[in-house]
Amino acid sequence: MKPIHVGLLGLGTVGGGTLTVLRRNAEEISRRAGREIRVVRAAVRNLSKAKKLAGDLPLTTNPFDVVDDPAIDIVVELIGGLEPARELVMQAIANGKHVVTANKHLVAKHGNEIFAAAQAKGVMVAFEAAVAGGIPIIKALREGLTANRIEWLAGIINGTTNFILSEMRDKGLPFAEVLKEAQALGYAEADPTFDVEGVDAAHKATIMSAIAFGIPMQFDKAYIEGISKLDSVDIGYAEQLGYRIKLLGIARRRENGVELRVHPTLIPEKRLIANVEGAMNAVLVQGDAVGATLYYGKGAGAEPTASAVIADLVDVTRLHTSDPEHRVPHLAFQPDQVHDVPVLPIEEVITSYYLRMRVEDKPGVLADITRILADSSISIEALIQKEAAEGEAHTDIIMLTHQTAEKNANAAIARIEALPVVQGKVVKLRMETL
Ligand code: HSE
Repeated sequence: MKPIHVGLLGLGTVGGGTLTVLRRNAEEISRRAGREIRVVRAAVRNLSKAKKLAGDLPLTTNPFDVVDDPAIDIVVELIGGLEPARELVMQAIANGKHVVTANKHLVAKHGNEIFAAAQAKGVMVAFEAAVAGGIPIIKALREGLTANRIEWLAGIINGTTNFILSEMRDKGLPFAEVLKEAQALGYAEADPTFDVEGVDAAHKATIMSAIAFGIPMQFDKAYIEGISKLDSVDIGYAEQLGYRIKLLGIARRRENGVELRVHPTLIPEKRLIANVEGAMNAVLVQGDAVGATLYYGKGAGAEPTASAVIADLVDVTRLHTSDPEHRVPHLAFQPDQVHDVPVLPIEEVITSYYLRMRVEDKPGVLADITRILADSSISIEALIQKEAAEGEAHTDIIMLTHQTAEKNANAAIARIEALPVVQGKVVKLRMETL
């Protein structure tokens, strides 16, 4: 059979990795795909930088040369960001080409529009590399777990923040110091905002929630809280209570909607996922039939991400000549079966909490605080009261609560903060038993 022709948009870390792995494993990949997957053109920003890696591969600096090239069957978008990536993908679809993308921002933000266009045109848009790099989590959710009603998923889906949290815990260092180390090691970008503020994880959680529950992408409704304000003191206290703090992306089905949230989360240290360290990723998925399943691996990097891109290329190659209705739907559910279930506001989320407060060390303080929690029907699971330091009139109280609605927890916290014996704000972190 004649080769399928691929055009690459971007020949940076992931594009370079894709070319390298396609070349290295060409024979095995063709045996699996049923025909050769041949890269015929790549669009790059800097021709002289790309030449060495490209070899005899024709290059262009105009990405429209790729998306408008009639000889190309599949466009692989690896340039990232919203524009011009969105325009290029839409044009490739309009030209009747299949698309493979690693662009989580684009899929989370414009996925609904892109999939509708692809559906109308009868082409595929594949995005395995957009979530958790080399871990085949999209395939698992969309196909492997297709028998299940997925109840919830929770993932460590940003390697940069997981590296930072691991270092803060191991070395007891503050966030700002570890961030510098992460940047020096090349984990965090020079502008690490999307990573440390949880936006990158929210893109990935949004994509997974859509496939898990058969709902549209609703990135704008996701609750997002990063790790930049996390104090290493809380990592230490959590550890004393038998918990690790991880930045989790969580999607959970509720009766009245879905929870979609990213925030630092206490997890029991005995859970496998609590022991995912450094820049690694992991996703835990709870299905009603299968129970809990855990997926672990490298969430970034040239070849791990290329592994996912090429898996999509093989899928698209195999299905290229099939009728569109015989393909796996973009969002796992048939397009007319995607239901517009609302994402719940954070106030409606139900979870348990870690609370830390600075209080005067005198009789009755603990009783006042526990009275407020009892009035709000918030049950305490564990409690530590630190001895006041020599010459200090204040001390820390740390509490773990049982589950309650966030609005209820917030109301109780406001009352606690209003007590004259409580100094400053109460630190609140969410906790999941998973
Ligand atoms: N910036 C991402 C991370 C990698 O730190 O995990 C690619 O999604």
